Amino acid sequence: MNVLLIGSGGREHSLAWKIAASPLLETFFCVPGNPGIAQHATCIDMDVDDHDAIVSLCREKGITLVVVGPEAPLVAGLSDRLEQAGFPVFGPSAAAAQLEGSKGFTKDLCDRFGIPTGAYMRLDNASKAKAYARQMGAPIVIKADGLAAGKGVTVAQTLEEAFSAIDECFEGAFGVAGAEVVVEEFLTGEEASFFCICDGTQVLPFGTAQDHKAVGDGDTGPNTGGMGAYSPAPVMTDELVQRTMDEIIKPTLAGMEEMGLPFRGVLYAGLMITESGPQLIEYNVRFGDPECQPLMMRLKDDVLMLMKAAVDGQLWTMSTRWKDETALCIVMAARGYPGTYQKGTPIGNLDEASADDGVEIFHAGTALADGRLVANGGRVLGVTALGASAREAQQKAYRAVDLIDWDDGFCRWDIGWRAIARES
Ligand code: AMP
Ligand code: GLY
Repeated sequence: MNVLLIGSGGREHSLAWKIAASPLLETFFCVPGNPGIAQHATCIDMDVDDHDAIVSLCREKGITLVVVGPEAPLVAGLSDRLEQAGFPVFGPSAAAAQLEGSKGFTKDLCDRFGIPTGAYMRLDNASKAKAYARQMGAPIVIKADGLAAGKGVTVAQTLEEAFSAIDECFEGAFGVAGAEVVVEEFLTGEEASFFCICDGTQVLPFGTAQDHKAVGDGDTGPNTGGMGAYSPAPVMTDELVQRTMDEIIKPTLAGMEEMGLPFRGVLYAGLMITESGPQLIEYNVRFGDPECQPLMMRLKDDVLMLMKAAVDGQLWTMSTRWKDETALCIVMAARGYPGTYQKGTPIGNLDEASADDGVEIFHAGTALADGRLVANGGRVLGVTALGASAREAQQKAYRAVDLIDWDDGFCRWDIGWRAIARES
């Protein structure tokens, strides 16, 4: 197969690493990629928003499968454009990507098909939104409807906080993404991420994970894209996995099909495990970043074969096998992230740091400057290790972190604490 991967983060590096191990792979390109991905694929620096240029590239390179990593190109219709031009894509249509692109769409789907989720209302002006928030009482959750780069959600402890989040949305803090808000019941429990791959009709469970969104140890400080993750999520017992499939995933996919929007690609459910069982917090239409890194390290099967089966509508022929180990990813970020940070600071000793068996360092925001590896983003590296337990995986990953020479980088020092607490 001739594969084109879209994206440039740690998620895409781990996908590239796994795709590169497939015997089905013939040629491999990535737009735009990063220096880590360049170890596996030819990276081409092109604008992902220029769909015509991507179609031309697919023609020129004889691409037989396009794998889209991030959500933005999916919501923008890249998958539709490529399919119209005859190129198979692992990743949903823009219409199906509304599961991530519009929180209101997903809540309405839950309502229509009886999928457990918090009570909610979609509102298009501040006074109605505030009235509903007042009626529900605090704590309460305010969400901009559209894609807001992970920043559109406020878990408000007081009504004042809720009101200012509502005002912020309607005053344009999130652009068009905030033209409508979802005001949602606050759910309590432990959060977990549940992944599956779908071919429009069939669905294959694809593992569980938990991530750490807050920047600081002890889950303190502002939220980030994710400072670390591990798989599996110990909270997700076999029974909870089965309930999630039966009560959330299957009705969603059947509902999407019924609405004429069959879903193909990765469906990532953000769950709250409440006293009454799993409830849907949100859907994403792609792998999590950094959750993908541990998932790829645990997957024994050929990811390309699974993606091809999804695109061909043949998922019913497939199953997945996973290493009976925990994989844990520690994100190293540039000092200052998620606020302002410097780019261009030098990084060294990655070869020695990743020399251990079962340790991989995935590049997220790196670049080459005069032949030297430098930081080029907020989240820069995903140091990932496999271990017999979460504790062992954590120890291995931090040993690797200690060996990395990067004065300007930092990480959290407690990634996996929840899983480790369950082990002791
Ligand atoms: P989202 O972007 O929808 O994943 O929301 C970001 C984070 O906000 C989630 O990971 C949860 O920690 C929190 N959150 C979102 N919705 C709720 C809810 N209804 N109840 C409690 N916490 C929530
Ligand atoms: N790590 C959270 C996400 O990818 O959405």
